[in-house]
Amino acid sequence: MPKRLNLSKEIEKQLPAELVNFMWMAGEIAHTRGEKLYLVGGVVRDLMLGQANLDLDLVVEGNAIELAQRLKKNVNGKLTTHSRFNTAKLLWDNWSVDLTTARTETYEKPGALPKVTPGSLDQDLGRRDFTINAMALGLNPGFYGQPIDPHGGRDDLKNELIRVLHDNSFIDDATRIWRGLRYEQRLDFHLEKKTLGLLKRDTEMLKTISADRTRYEVECILKERYPEKVFRRAAELEVLPHLHPSLRGDGWLAEKFEQARKLSAPAPPEAGLYLALLAYPLTKEETDRFISRLKLPKALAQILIDTAVLKSKMRLLATPGLSPSGIFRLLEAYSSPAMVANSIATESPTASQNIHLYLTRLKYIEISLTGDDLIQMGVTSGPEIREIMERLQKARLDGEIASKENERELVREWLTKRD
Ligand code: CTP
Repeated sequence: MPKRLNLSKEIEKQLPAELVNFMWMAGEIAHTRGEKLYLVGGVVRDLMLGQANLDLDLVVEGNAIELAQRLKKNVNGKLTTHSRFNTAKLLWDNWSVDLTTARTETYEKPGALPKVTPGSLDQDLGRRDFTINAMALGLNPGFYGQPIDPHGGRDDLKNELIRVLHDNSFIDDATRIWRGLRYEQRLDFHLEKKTLGLLKRDTEMLKTISADRTRYEVECILKERYPEKVFRRAAELEVLPHLHPSLRGDGWLAEKFEQARKLSAPAPPEAGLYLALLAYPLTKEETDRFISRLKLPKALAQILIDTAVLKSKMRLLATPGLSPSGIFRLLEAYSSPAMVANSIATESPTASQNIHLYLTRLKYIEISLTGDDLIQMGVTSGPEIREIMERLQKARLDGEIASKENERELVREWLTKRD
């Protein structure tokens, strides 16, 4: 490793020119204000790894909101600020940059959000989760691109290790347990030996984490390229049962997630589908508990409930010779991700094919006649309309009729029989 390392070349190579110019300009302005500005956290880690990351986190020894207000003028951007934490988010064109005042944190109670007071960069780095996330790069003129690495993050990057900064790290904030597994699996690193011991010692601290914070961690995992790797490791380290004891993090899940990716390509699967597959082994009652453990928002909760209910209908859906209208009736009430999850997870190829038929064809089949058309033909307004429409739809689904004219003929036939 060179003695006086400077990463300004890496910054230039890996970040778009607009962001590079912004950082130069921000460093100059901070300097004229008598403040010190740094690039920190994940983006520094990823710059050192040569990986793309456009989430710029800046820390200022000074006043982040005032500096952001000044920078806003230069880029003609939009600003959101939080005066309580003295943080700001600056948005312009396609870019978004977070600015934070360097701070110290004290944890009054495990799992609760920390008490925050202004501090130095050293203190700010010292409150962070892992050494590889506790590095900074100077942005002021004179030390632009210079790494600040008080905790040996660069060595840990080289040795592919995830290491906490102190023994109480997971007690202060047990979400770091999930974060540690996420980085380990994403980067293909290892939890450093002592850190692994502390993590095992402190898994019970996951009980101190609120539903909202736990859900956020699960959402982050589901955004990873291979979330199943994180769940597998979580199962191995007895962390997964803290989400729910009946969840599986094994080869079964890996296979199902892989299928979900194939089905959703080129986009990654939506969180609802992944979550439905994760929760697939749960009974209906367990699903309800899992939903409240994570305080899932309504739409996601509904997907999981639908998944559990549909699972109990897979036997019916696998009945040989089931008519298209029969398939339609069994499936129409459920959300699409719940159907896709069941088609991936069921052991019955017939049920899976029937779901596929529904999603690709049956759900789009509609009748052409409207209520008004039916009244004009002599149908009595009221429940009879609905009944006739349902009969028409069944006939359409089962291929007995294929056009508006066919529908008319059928209605006429029924009306003659009725009269
Ligand atoms: N951080 C922390 N402890 C947490 C959450 C965040 O120390 N519980 C710090 C880390 O230094 C992290 C930074 O805040 O690098 C930003 O947090 P986040 O955006 O969650 O992390 P990134 O490292 O940017 O992660 P990712 O690559 O997953 O976006």
